[in-house]
Amino acid sequence: MAAPLDKHQRLRNALLGLPVDRPPVWLMRQAGRYMPVYRAIREKVSFLELCADAQLCAEVTCQPIDAFDLDAAIVFSDILTVPAAMGQGLTFGTGHGPQLNPVVRTADDLATLRHPDVGTALRPAHDAIRAFRALRPEVPILGFAGSPWTLLCYMVEGQGSKDFAAAKRLLWEAPDVARALLDRLADVVGEHLQAQAEAGAAAVQLFDTWAGVLAPEEARAFALPAAARALDHVRGVPRIYFAKAGGDLLPWLGETGADAQGLDWKVDIRRARKVLGGTPVQGNLDPLLLFAPPEVLTARVHDVLRAAGPLGHVFNLGHGIHRHTPEAAVTTLVQAVRSFVPEAAA
Ligand code: CP3
Repeated sequence: MAAPLDKHQRLRNALLGLPVDRPPVWLMRQAGRYMPVYRAIREKVSFLELCADAQLCAEVTCQPIDAFDLDAAIVFSDILTVPAAMGQGLTFGTGHGPQLNPVVRTADDLATLRHPDVGTALRPAHDAIRAFRALRPEVPILGFAGSPWTLLCYMVEGQGSKDFAAAKRLLWEAPDVARALLDRLADVVGEHLQAQAEAGAAAVQLFDTWAGVLAPEEARAFALPAAARALDHVRGVPRIYFAKAGGDLLPWLGETGADAQGLDWKVDIRRARKVLGGTPVQGNLDPLLLFAPPEVLTARVHDVLRAAGPLGHVFNLGHGIHRHTPEAAVTTLVQAVRSFVPEAAA
C-alpha cells in the first residue's frame, strides 16, 4: 500500500497501473436527475440550455463532488453536442429521449454535415472544465465524448432505439457511407477530446454505449477502428474506452489504443483482467445494486475490489447511475470503497 495520495495522483496512477493508496471512485453520470440540487437547476433551464452554459455546467459538475466526496469529476455535457455541432438538429423533448433531425443515411445526407471548428462549436464543455478547475483545483476532472459508432447510431436512427436496426442496415447496405461518417465523427470527436485535455482534463473517456448491439466481428471492423482513430488525436492524458456490453470484445479492445478499459457489470472482472493483460480497468458494479440493502451493496463493492486487485483499477459502476437512485446509497458506496481492506497475500 502506497503513502496517501492526492486525488490527482490517485486517478492518474490507477489509470496507468501504478501503485495507489486505494482505488479512486467516480460514477458514470454522477451528476443528474437523482440529485434534488440538479433538478432545482433544471427547473430554471432546459437540458440543452444547461449544456451551453459553461459556468452552470461547472456548478452541476461540482454537485456530486460536494455531496459524496468522489475522487474524480466528469464534465457536465452530453455526447450529442457533437452531431449538433456538425449541423444536425438536436432536441430533448419532455418524457422522451433525444431527437436528431434530419437523419443521416446517404452520401448526400453526409455531405450536408460540416466539420465544425471544435474550439468554437463545443466550447462550453472546454470552458466548463476550466471553470471547474478554478472552483475545485484539488479534484481531477475527466473530459468525454461519444464514440463514433455510438454517435452514428443516434444520427442514423434519429433517436434512441432498442436494436439500432437502421444504423446496422447502413453498415451492410452502404458500408462506404458508414465508414465515411465514422471517419468524420472520429476526427471531430478526437479534436473535442484533445481540446478537453488542453483545457485541463486529467483523463478522457470515450463512451461506446452501443458497441454491444453489433456482432463482435462487426464491432471489430467498424466500432473499434473508429474509436482508435478518435483516441489517436489525444496527447498527454490517459484515455479510457468504455464499450458497454463489450465482454465479447475483450481480446480486441487493445486495438483502440486506450490506456484503460471500462467494463460493464456483465463482464467477469477477473476474466477481463486475464484477457486484457496489464491494461488498467474501470468498473464494474451493477448500477442497480444502489437499490439493494446497504449491507448487500457494501459486500458487492468489496467483491469487485477484491476481484479487480489493487493495481490498475478505477472503481465505477458498469454503466450510468439510474435516475431514481437514492442519494444515501451513493454515500454507502463511497464509504464501502474507502473501508475496503485487501486481504494479505496468501
Ligand atoms: O456523469 C456526468 O455527470 C456527465 C453527464 C453525462 C450526461 N450524458 C448528462 C445527461 C454523460 C457522461 C452523458 C453521456 C451520454 N449521453 C451517453 C453515453 C453514456 C450512457 O449513459 O450511455 C448517451 C448515450 C447520451 C445521450 C443521452 N443524453 C440520452 C440517451 C439521454 C437520456 C434522455 C432522457 O431524458 O432520459 C440524455 C440526457 C442526459 N444527459 C441527461 C443528463 C443528466 C438527462 C437530462 C435531463 O436533465 O433531463
